[in-house]
Amino acid sequence: MSSSKFGNLIGAIDEGTSSARFIIFKAETTEIVTSHQKSVTNIFPREGWYEQDPLEIISVVKECIEKAVEKLIALGGSASDIKAVGITNQRESTVVWDPETGEPFYNCIIWSDIRTTSTVDQLLEKVPNKTRNKNYLKPLCGLPLSTYFSAVKLKWLLDNAQSVQAAVRNEKQVMFGTIDTWLIWNLTDRMHVTDVTNASRTMLMNLETLEWDPILKKFFDIPDCIELPTIKSSSEIYGNIVDGSLKGIPIAGCLGDQQAALVGQGCMQIGEAKCTYGTGCFLLYCTGNHNVDSEHGLLTTVAYQLGDRHPVYALEGSVAVAGAALTWLKDNIELMHDFDEIDGLVKSVKDNGDVYFVPAFSGLFAPHWDAEARGIICGITEETQRGHIVRAALESVCFQVKDILDAMNLECGTPLSKLKVDGGMTNNNFLMQTQTDIIGLEVIKPAMIETTSLGAAMVAGAAVGLWNMDLKVESNSRNFKPKISDYERENCFTKWKMAIERSLGWDQ
Ligand code: G3P
Repeated sequence: MSSSKFGNLIGAIDEGTSSARFIIFKAETTEIVTSHQKSVTNIFPREGWYEQDPLEIISVVKECIEKAVEKLIALGGSASDIKAVGITNQRESTVVWDPETGEPFYNCIIWSDIRTTSTVDQLLEKVPNKTRNKNYLKPLCGLPLSTYFSAVKLKWLLDNAQSVQAAVRNEKQVMFGTIDTWLIWNLTDRMHVTDVTNASRTMLMNLETLEWDPILKKFFDIPDCIELPTIKSSSEIYGNIVDGSLKGIPIAGCLGDQQAALVGQGCMQIGEAKCTYGTGCFLLYCTGNHNVDSEHGLLTTVAYQLGDRHPVYALEGSVAVAGAALTWLKDNIELMHDFDEIDGLVKSVKDNGDVYFVPAFSGLFAPHWDAEARGIICGITEETQRGHIVRAALESVCFQVKDILDAMNLECGTPLSKLKVDGGMTNNNFLMQTQTDIIGLEVIKPAMIETTSLGAAMVAGAAVGLWNMDLKVESNSRNFKPKISDYERENCFTKWKMAIERSLGWDQ
């Protein structure tokens, strides 16, 4: 037992697409003692390309840890109160580096980058019998061939990045990893590991064996000098932190960010689901120990694995652009200076003015999986104002969730009766009311919306005996209930579907 003011604490590193954070929780509670957050620079070298500097990611994460620990000390706690650290991260984003120098061979290619559209096209040519079936590898890895996943990004690096090609030619070791792997390698004594949830997003892991699959490696032509990390469970000690104020503290938990939110929401049993609204938007439905193959455009993924227990699987509906649509309106279109203006703009008009916005900037993910879809704003008239466009952007998030919820209900037989939500965008009450109206289901938002970090803290705490995962996470919630009629709901959804039809296949 700790004798300090706060008792035992667990730290969570949350390295998301737009920023990194370090959050310190009281063990076995949803109580946050303190935190620190910093954004990472986005690099867009060409249209559709999206990178971040892996070295900056490390330095931002280290800075967040140090600043949060300083705040903890100012509050009367001490770094030694932190007994374990969990990691949760943007998934699929891919890093390759030199193990001798620790230098990346290339910038991190972010999950929503679409430079690999032609790589996907070439890979589809390899599918036997010329069927170009994008679901060819799905029985093995649960994922369709898409620009989204790490193996496709790695293939692009092997085919296009001179630094990687030179290393392969010289039979030098090339370390591969998703962001969790990159963080653990840098924070510990060079432990090269990943957890099953992150590995399940690479397209290289077999969902049954939970090991790298030789058929998948061969399909993507991964040479032997590419060093894949060892796949571990989501809750075990991977190594100790080697420097800074947390030196000696174990990194003891790791989950992809969407899986972490599922755990943090307490959706760990069959039939429980959550939807997280961030840069993108991700609905995960827990299928227990069953790895269910989707026929409706959903992904099969590992939800979590606690130590040597059976893995738990989930079906996932992924939406590439949610909050990113509003960032685009602010930064590219300069329709507002600050997100604080959203509320006022939404209230400046009485409805969406029949404007529909499909933000298919990087194609459409679930359930369409169309890399050629492109963004579209339709229904504009002389009367259209900024408020209508902002409303349409927010509504687009809700309609995309409706699309994946419909697919999920078809898949699972028993339709969901309510939707648990979390993530930064859920602070927008208009968005939440629109979501409940569009899906016709109650939407439940916990008071504690930092569920992603909480999930990482939970699995890390469990690994060091400081978190009982069987305890239900207690949190008050705010519930939103539908206020529109079925007729209104169907009417606007029909318009949305018309807009989707116009966006599909645009970039052919
Ligand atoms: O699969 C991508 C996802 O992990 C990114 O999540 O919250 O950073 O948008 P987020």
